[in-house]
Amino acid sequence: MRGLFITLEGADGCGKSTQAAILADRIAATGREVVRLREPGGTAVSEKIRALVLDPENSEMAPECELLLFEASRAQLVRQVIEPALARGAVVVCDRFYDSTFAYQAAGRSLAEQTIRAANALGSCGVAPDRTLVLDMDTDAALSRATRDGADRMEAEGVAFQRRVREGYLRLVAEEPRRVRRVDATGTVEEVAGRLADALADLLPDLAGEDR
Ligand code: TYD
Repeated sequence: MRGLFITLEGADGCGKSTQAAILADRIAATGREVVRLREPGGTAVSEKIRALVLDPENSEMAPECELLLFEASRAQLVRQVIEPALARGAVVVCDRFYDSTFAYQAAGRSLAEQTIRAANALGSCGVAPDRTLVLDMDTDAALSRATRDGADRMEAEGVAFQRRVREGYLRLVAEEPRRVRRVDATGTVEEVAGRLADALADLLPDLAGEDR
């Protein structure tokens, strides 16, 4: 039995982390085991890499170094947590996965797409999400929300960078419509949560019956 691998994506400040928590609770309420994770992070090794890669003091970091650090964090998470969870039939809900690398390092940083795809294949150890939900909203509103309490190294890149990230995500939605779905991130937390559940209805029919 293989479980289900769901990833949440979006530019900084789109409300993803709040929604990941709600979604995980809703899936757990249907009786499934849920493993909730975030990238970069989720293992001791990956959390150390997270601190390094997001530290605003590391402003000299080369894009290639950044790419490999995200992939290193990912590979550890896949081998140590995601693969075993899927093997025992759990639903894995991951806040970001390799589509973040496409949006941020290819669209955002302008690294060659071919390079990113090869790096993602290695970093993910060949594990692909069953469904990816892209929370989409206006860039300015999202970024001002994200940086209310200060900016990490990626958020400090500014609004033009975040616009490219958003466009990168929308391209993925167009290119892989079966797996990658755009979800409107505006409105109340409950409204957005309802849209996410709807976008999973074919994979998790029990979610639709949840009280909204
Ligand atoms: P985080 O604080 O987790 O942001 P959020 O709450 O918005 O998910 O920081 C993760 C940052 O790292 C975010 O700006 C996106 C970026 N990132 C990449 O650039 N490439 C990647 O492959 C991943 C996983 C994240």
